[in-house]
Amino acid sequence: MLDYKLSMDKIVENTKENTVLLSIRGATVCDNTAKSIQSSTEQLYKAIIEANNLNDKNVNVTAVFVSMTKDLTASFAAAGLRGLCDCAIFSSSEPEIEKSLPFCIRLLVQVNVAKGTKAQHIYQGGAKTLRPDISKFVIALDGPSGSGKSSLARLVSQNLGIMHLDSGALFRSVAVKLIECGFYKDKLLVDDERLTSVLQATNIVTKCKDGLQRIFLDDKDISSIIRQHEVSKATSDIAINTAIREYVKTVQYKMACTQSLIVDGRDIGTVVFPNTEFKFFVVASIQERAIRRQRELKRKGHDIDLNSLISDIQKRDFNDSNREVAPLKQARDAILIDTTSKKLEQSSFEVLQHIYSTKHNSV
Ligand code: DC
Repeated sequence: MLDYKLSMDKIVENTKENTVLLSIRGATVCDNTAKSIQSSTEQLYKAIIEANNLNDKNVNVTAVFVSMTKDLTASFAAAGLRGLCDCAIFSSSEPEIEKSLPFCIRLLVQVNVAKGTKAQHIYQGGAKTLRPDISKFVIALDGPSGSGKSSLARLVSQNLGIMHLDSGALFRSVAVKLIECGFYKDKLLVDDERLTSVLQATNIVTKCKDGLQRIFLDDKDISSIIRQHEVSKATSDIAINTAIREYVKTVQYKMACTQSLIVDGRDIGTVVFPNTEFKFFVVASIQERAIRRQRELKRKGHDIDLNSLISDIQKRDFNDSNREVAPLKQARDAILIDTTSKKLEQSSFEVLQHIYSTKHNSV
């Protein structure tokens, strides 16, 4: 009752001035231990206060609403707010919805602020997946060719409602541009200065059209062209050029500024987005990768011997892993996903479980 009166006093007092009541949202995930629940709640609350410049002893906070998913049973999350705020705190449990984020704490902080102030909502760790539109994040999925990373990235992107960016397709698009300009014929035929100006004048855009990912080079849809054999060969040659890698990196950064992404490639977790908290390294046995490739080629009407495919893959792996620029390797903090003898849905489930349970790193 005392808390309630205190909160009402604050509202009345602040309404006299030119202020409005603002609701700020936040969510985080934690383990089901009293320590993890309370410290995660405290960290989240502090992050909300700091991001919204409410540092002056929280005088503007009028109420805090806390919800916990029912799998969190070791403590009240609100206990983590003791001593942090002197307003009313209301706890509740979150409705149990199928496939919703487990081990999750949500906060709604009500504050009196100057009219026109915008709320900075805070979603941490795996809880970022609740609002990929607000808390932009990148999932890095690296691995050798044929490991299943592209199909996996596509499925995870559909599950999370975020965009899938195939970084290999960006390199392939640059190769198409260079072939079209006459700057590639069996090898790169252009000096660094010319290459830089060509890249500056290159516009690569990926769009989702009729549920399918399409890639446009200078407004032309080149989604089928990039898969041609001649382009694959050119791509693997040009992908070792530093200026081209820098250009492709910039394209990825620009896309990540405006939306959450799952990006698959070779160097995403090591070079392009080394600070992302969601990193995976996808592998499969050579035998399995060769069988997948054989199946794919059969569908296109080609019958290729399994042993020759195995030796092709071994060569490619060696080149990818031993090149000087951005070699393929597992980032120290990447989670290994082995897709050998697993259904795609199973690997996707594994990736999603890791993402959902990723804790905010300062807890
Ligand atoms: O994944 P893919 O086969 O579409 O990749 C095409 C080429 O680009 C391949 O030779 C590897 C290279 N590549 C790279 O060097 N770095 C990336 N992040 C993605 C692809």
